[in-house]
Amino acid sequence: MEFKVKSAFRFGVLVALIGSIGLGAFFQPNAIAIPSSNPAPEIVPVDTNMHDFMEGMFQAPYRRLKEAIAAEPKDNSGWKAIRSDVLILAEGSNILVLRKPEKDQAKWDEFSLASKQAGEMAFKAAKQKNFAETRKAYEAMLVHCNDCHKTFANGKHQLAP
Ligand code: HEC
Repeated sequence: MEFKVKSAFRFGVLVALIGSIGLGAFFQPNAIAIPSSNPAPEIVPVDTNMHDFMEGMFQAPYRRLKEAIAAEPKDNSGWKAIRSDVLILAEGSNILVLRKPEKDQAKWDEFSLASKQAGEMAFKAAKQKNFAETRKAYEAMLVHCNDCHKTFANGKHQLAP
């Protein structure tokens, strides 16, 4: 008898507990909902024009890379120099999509993505110290750089690999 009373009491406590959690959730939906008042921060590029952007972000790594990749590196620091500049150009191409022109945005994105992908391939090949593949991907990247310059820079800045 005592046992039954105890277990009935325990059962009652359990029901009350579950019930109050349920009610709490029902009356305070915000207490358990994932906060929605924290939207992802908007990524806004630094306030510069395209000329200053290309000159500041792309010109120096391109010039260094052209020299570093002219012949197969002899030591690790030569490979490191290639990896670094190819990565700067690949990631730089990625963020070009934040600087869309007013017209032909699809073309702009296409050239940027192609340049990023070729740069990424060059980076991966450089990690393997595979010079032939690194050089091939680097040359492919420059074709995409130049494609964009043909369309969006009046054909200027045709860069030699
Ligand atoms: C999506 C388009 C686009 C891509 C991709 C692109 N560029 Fe450019 N780039 C431009 C435009 C537009 C200009 C001309 C800016 C101006 O002077 O108004 C330019 C200019 C340049 C210049 C000349 C800067 C100066 O001082 O006059 C260099 C160097 C350059 N780009 C390097 C590169 C390299 C290297 C790549 C590839 C890794 C590349 N760009 C990819 C759009 C692009």
